[in-house]
Amino acid sequence: MMETREPLQVQPARRRVVEILLGGGLMASIVSFLYPVLRYLVPPPVPDLGGDEVVAGKVGDLKANSSKIFRFGNRPALLLLTAEGEYRALSATCTHLSCTVQYRSDLHEIWCACHNGMYDLNGRNISGPPPRPLETYQVHVRGDEVVVSRKRGA
Ligand code: FES
Repeated sequence: MMETREPLQVQPARRRVVEILLGGGLMASIVSFLYPVLRYLVPPPVPDLGGDEVVAGKVGDLKANSSKIFRFGNRPALLLLTAEGEYRALSATCTHLSCTVQYRSDLHEIWCACHNGMYDLNGRNISGPPPRPLETYQVHVRGDEVVVSRKRGA
């Protein structure tokens, strides 16, 4: 005697539950892919962590006509000792596209390697694409420390 099988029927309610689960899984996959991409493209704002004053180094760390990068708040800054023995401190963030600038001891100027921007030792943009001067800071020698601070009213 042969058994007869009824055609497989999925109940409409069960089908609906499966569709919801599959749709939810697909949405979760899309979100889990897009979220890190969006976080990468739109980084969170970084608060300025620094105060108005920082010890940039010790007296004698720099030779005349040389420089060093130090952190001023959450940004790089440039401390340089001119060939005449005068300290200068400036923001090291190029005003063009935010590359870090460096002191060119051979030219006695500040140079941005990204697009060949040039600044003089007062931070003025003198050639290349930078649209604005670099921010300049005050430098004080306090004991054996070289202290850099923001200019008041700037
Ligand atoms: S980022 Fe400095 S010149 Fe373009």
